[in-house]
Amino acid sequence: MSFQAVLFDLDGVITDTAEYHFLAWQALAQELGIHIDRQFNEQLKGVSREDSLKRILAHGHKTVSDIEFMQLAERKNANYVTMIQKVTPNDVYLGILDLLKDLRANGKKIALASASKNGPFLLQQMQLTDYFDAIADPAKVAASKPAPDIFQAAAQGVGVDVHECIGIEDAAAGVAAIKAAGALPIGVGKAEDLGNDIALVSQTNQLTFDYLNDVWQQSRG
Ligand code: BG6
Ligand code: MG
Repeated sequence: MSFQAVLFDLDGVITDTAEYHFLAWQALAQELGIHIDRQFNEQLKGVSREDSLKRILAHGHKTVSDIEFMQLAERKNANYVTMIQKVTPNDVYLGILDLLKDLRANGKKIALASASKNGPFLLQQMQLTDYFDAIADPAKVAASKPAPDIFQAAAQGVGVDVHECIGIEDAAAGVAAIKAAGALPIGVGKAEDLGNDIALVSQTNQLTFDYLNDVWQQSRG
């Protein structure tokens, strides 16, 4: 038996919006007199908006009122939303469109398991919405990555047992979430960030249908 569905992270897997999240957080942190670099940003990848802001404030040893916290989160999002208006189908990472087409042609289900509330908008901008059988809503899950909830919700959305799914992630929190859910993880990135105990690709054009099948056969076949 092969896998039945693929649960995709979005930011940093389907397109380069992980970079926009970083730039928007960095700008906000700078306003607060907090310095964040790319290494620190690894801890923010895959993490919800609120949890990201908490980590940045803790990093800068700052406390803010609840109202200010909400305003800061909104300000970051407004800046990020401005940035992503310019995302087009040309920004889809190499190999992703072919993978989506091959998955459909082979009867596999496709779901989005992104922590981002901007996921549906971004899929539209990239003209990818129609490839997705389900989009898990991060506003409706009890706990965000590294908890398994969003991957469980994505699998449920396509009616597939999560153990029969592959999850694709670029973030340590996301890989942990896939493992906790019981799906098979494939990482986009480096072993130093994602661990050396999962299948890893350095470029998304390595994410071919054949590659996914091979990874599945090697670990579950
Ligand atoms: C994840 C990103 O996909 O979504 C995080 O990796 C981001 O960087 C999170 O914080 C939440 O996104 P948003 O768009 O709802 O603020
Ligand atoms: Mg990501």
